[in-house]
Amino acid sequence: MLIDDIKALKAAKQAIILAHYYQDPDVQDIADFVGDSLELSKIAATTDAKMIVFCGVNFMAETAKILSPDKKVLLPVENAQCPMALMINAKKLAEYKAAHPERKIICYVNSYADVKALSDVCVTSSNAEKIVSHYQNEKILYIPDKNLGTYLKDKYHWDIETWPGYCSIHNNLKPDDVLVQKALHPNALVLIHPEAPLAVLKLADYIGSTKGIIEYAKRSPNREFIIGTEKGILHPLKKANPDKTFYLLNEGLSCADMKMTHLDDVYRCLKNETFEITLPEKILEKASLSLKRMLEMSS
Ligand code: 13P
Ligand code: SF4
Repeated sequence: MLIDDIKALKAAKQAIILAHYYQDPDVQDIADFVGDSLELSKIAATTDAKMIVFCGVNFMAETAKILSPDKKVLLPVENAQCPMALMINAKKLAEYKAAHPERKIICYVNSYADVKALSDVCVTSSNAEKIVSHYQNEKILYIPDKNLGTYLKDKYHWDIETWPGYCSIHNNLKPDDVLVQKALHPNALVLIHPEAPLAVLKLADYIGSTKGIIEYAKRSPNREFIIGTEKGILHPLKKANPDKTFYLLNEGLSCADMKMTHLDDVYRCLKNETFEITLPEKILEKASLSLKRMLEMSS
């Protein structure tokens, strides 16, 4: 059986499987660790496994490679990539930096290594508020997610310019989605990821990363929740809270790239040791500075 074969190969190769909360339920269930971007990067930085199989999108596997450069890091599906990470590139960022040398570059982890290499510090949705607060007296460029940058700017009035990137899944959410779901489920609390537009976030009862949403739902005495993030999160939410009910804010909350990875891809990945993440040494070294600064600041 495929699951047994995956387990056998994993043991033989001293590998661990990491999966993001947005992966399909069966992929989450064979993983050693399921988590959000921050948790998975912490595990990648500290694991003593020889090989990391990253079920997610390629910036996540790159991040694991940067934090664990001596390990073999594999992505089961070569072209699983985050469209937001493609909305900025190193050339454009270098041009911006030359024109605005005074701005600190705060880089969402949903970005490629060469962009991280040009940044002062990385953040994830779990630690962005905490880390950006360290720079609150500075001029900031927040890349590449305009929505998360705008949310922080609106909340704290810090001097933040935003790059015009976005997650097409979350950016598609509309205030009407909240109003419609609230009308259908008046007792439900609304929990939304900060990659959503500000007008939608203003209607939320809680704003937070995938991990934050899971923890909020677990500790809340409420029984019903409307969830404003990718539908993969429903699996850990339901597992941890069998007595609570979750409604998706909008049926379009499915990330095609996160859904590319299937169990047979994980099997082939372990068997053939593909697709291996490699990075030029200089880029890896520079990108690791901004990621390690993030881990120091969020610990
Ligand atoms: P978190 O994992 O930080 O919640 O971010 C979600 C995301 O954008 C993954 O693609
Ligand atoms: Fe990128 Fe959005 Fe998909 Fe996450 S959910 S990988 S941010 S497109």
